[in-house]
Amino acid sequence: MYAIKPLNNIAKCGLDVFNKDLYEVNDQSENPDGIILRSFNMHDMEFPENLKGIARAGAGVNNIPVQSCSEKGIVVFNTPGANANAVKELVLATILASSRNLIDGVSWVKTLEGEGEKVPKLVEAGKKEFVGREIAGKTLGVIGLGAVGALVANSALALDMEVMGFDPFISVDTAWNLSRNVQRAMTIEQIFSSCDFITVHVPLTEQTRGMFNKEAFSLMKNNVKILNFSRGELANEEDLKAAIESGIVGKYITDFPNENVINMKNVIAIPHLGASTKESEENCAIMAARQLKNYIETGNIKNS
Ligand code: MLT
Repeated sequence: MYAIKPLNNIAKCGLDVFNKDLYEVNDQSENPDGIILRSFNMHDMEFPENLKGIARAGAGVNNIPVQSCSEKGIVVFNTPGANANAVKELVLATILASSRNLIDGVSWVKTLEGEGEKVPKLVEAGKKEFVGREIAGKTLGVIGLGAVGALVANSALALDMEVMGFDPFISVDTAWNLSRNVQRAMTIEQIFSSCDFITVHVPLTEQTRGMFNKEAFSLMKNNVKILNFSRGELANEEDLKAAIESGIVGKYITDFPNENVINMKNVIAIPHLGASTKESEENCAIMAARQLKNYIETGNIKNS
């Protein structure tokens, strides 16, 4: 019998993949063969002796010490694409909501409670306060054209945005699925200098850490809107704060709020919700569990 230890609340349909005849799924397991997790930080954890594989129900693997795992022969899986639709929907939702001042508008209307008969008049006055901008015709730059980035790029076209994508390592699958109407930038600087909105969909690596820095901001249009639903550390905190203060960054929208900028007026910071839909949690859990099960039983590595 194999032991599987879930380190987070993983959707039940995912855990059900481990049939009861062959597996014991137990979060107290001392020496599991496999670990399945979401955002649990494994960096300071000792590896159990029997551990063969770790499956992350999500795309990023920066919560797992991948290098040490490789050295010990422990295979790390992630679930590319399984939560892409959820992230795409949140990116588009926040582009629209921020352009139409929806979040501030909703909070403002709540302050009218108790105004009685004056409410309709005040609501009319609110029109002037919250005049928005339309996104049709504006340019969206998509950095990283993997599963999420490609979906975002294709979908933004349907909102009549101009879309420019950049990715030095685009896969054959993505190349086929990417609409021909998505312009391909040859350099990241092209995205920085020509877009009204920039959304980033890359993993956190030593190459991407701090990619939104002083130099990058200096190339951007004034009042650019940046969306970061990937990892907070992609932005250099000090440089980001300065760019927001100077008005280069007109809005910073993220589900990885940096402590330094959380309370700034032009920051829309939400909990880490990009992948948090029922559908996405189920897709990720099932994909992660199947990969782990397949590997434990057959030794085959299939990262899809
Ligand atoms: C991801 O890396 O895909 C997300 O962080 C998933 C999650 O929210 O757990």
